[in-house]
Amino acid sequence: MAKKILEVHELTTKYITRQHEDVYAVDHVSLDIEEGKSLGIAGESGCGKSTLSLSLMGYYFPPLHYTSGEIIIDGKNISGMDPDEVRKTVLGTEIAYIPQAAMNAMNPTRKVGDFIVDVIRAHELPMNKKEIRKMAEERFAKLGLPVEALDKYSVELSGGMRQRVVIAISTILSPKVLIADEPSSALDVTSQKMVIKMMKDMLKEGMIKSMIFITHELNLLYNVTDDIMVMYAGQIVERGSADEVVFDSIHPYSHGLMNSILVPESGTRDVKLTAIPGTPPNLKNPPSGCRFAERCRYACPACTVNSVSLFDIGGGRSYRCSRSVDELKELYKHEND
Ligand SMILES: Nc1ncnc2c1ncn2[C@@H]1O[C@H](COP(=O)(O)OP(=O)(O)OP(=O)(O)O)[C@@H](O)[C@H]1O
Ligand SMILES: [Mg+2]
Repeated sequence: MAKKILEVHELTTKYITRQHEDVYAVDHVSLDIEEGKSLGIAGESGCGKSTLSLSLMGYYFPPLHYTSGEIIIDGKNISGMDPDEVRKTVLGTEIAYIPQAAMNAMNPTRKVGDFIVDVIRAHELPMNKKEIRKMAEERFAKLGLPVEALDKYSVELSGGMRQRVVIAISTILSPKVLIADEPSSALDVTSQKMVIKMMKDMLKEGMIKSMIFITHELNLLYNVTDDIMVMYAGQIVERGSADEVVFDSIHPYSHGLMNSILVPESGTRDVKLTAIPGTPPNLKNPPSGCRFAERCRYACPACTVNSVSLFDIGGGRSYRCSRSVDELKELYKHEND
């Protein structure tokens, strides 16, 4: 069995607002990724994808707070670690995080090469400027990025190039896990493809050992990640291989998401495009039963009362619904009648 690079057990985190209200944005999330593998996380806006990626770093600052659960990176448990310790010993080396819209947040007064010097200095690595430059040039060349970009300000680069440069800077120390939050959502299709190709190459070449790709566009994950996890209202509602989740989803929410998008290059789906009516619940006061019940066309009265656990059906697949797989499949067969 392949080695697990990231293991997360029942991670629960919350925001505490200025009005002292709790927002349960990540609720008992468990996941794992094997060496060399990638995991996509999809779900509508507000379902907790960014909060989960922030939470996975083990680096908490208000209003986000750790509540419970474990994060283990390559055998090292980082949950409950002091934030300063996390910054020094985990970020950049164990785990690298590319925040949503990171490419627009680069300090415009610094050159690309300076950011790399900052990363090395933050980790107190014994390297002089010449050695850092050599390392940066080698990495840029390996990633197919122009070495001249090191002497440019971020504003001098196109959006696609800026995003690839951000990823190259964040992974300069070859972290074990790369978490990229919507890394290609703001880009044109050509730049999107280049960013995705670069990340896949990094994984293949071992510059990173595993990858989490977060997006609200489920169709973007097909062909990009090995597995896909679908999130709804702070919880995982389904996990499986990319193929399974995209073409054979079990949970009514993932099924609904799939019916509301077009899968590129499939040409095989013969379904009507339908949006899921309604909006996700408020996470300050999530429903006690199934969180999707209110929007689910297959919900029964018990669904709004009884909470549902994630059910492991083997082969790396799990889903959170009280109906059986066969029952759901039968219902989906007749959904267009
Ligand atoms: N700083 C904050 N304080 C309080 N609540 C927050 C804060 N940031 C996010 N939330 C709430 O946490 C929940 C999850 O938000 P999050 O940003 O993680 O969603 P997301 O899935 O990344 O959405 P998107 O696709 O729009 O990026 C939402 O209900 C949101 O309102
Ligand atoms: Mg987000």
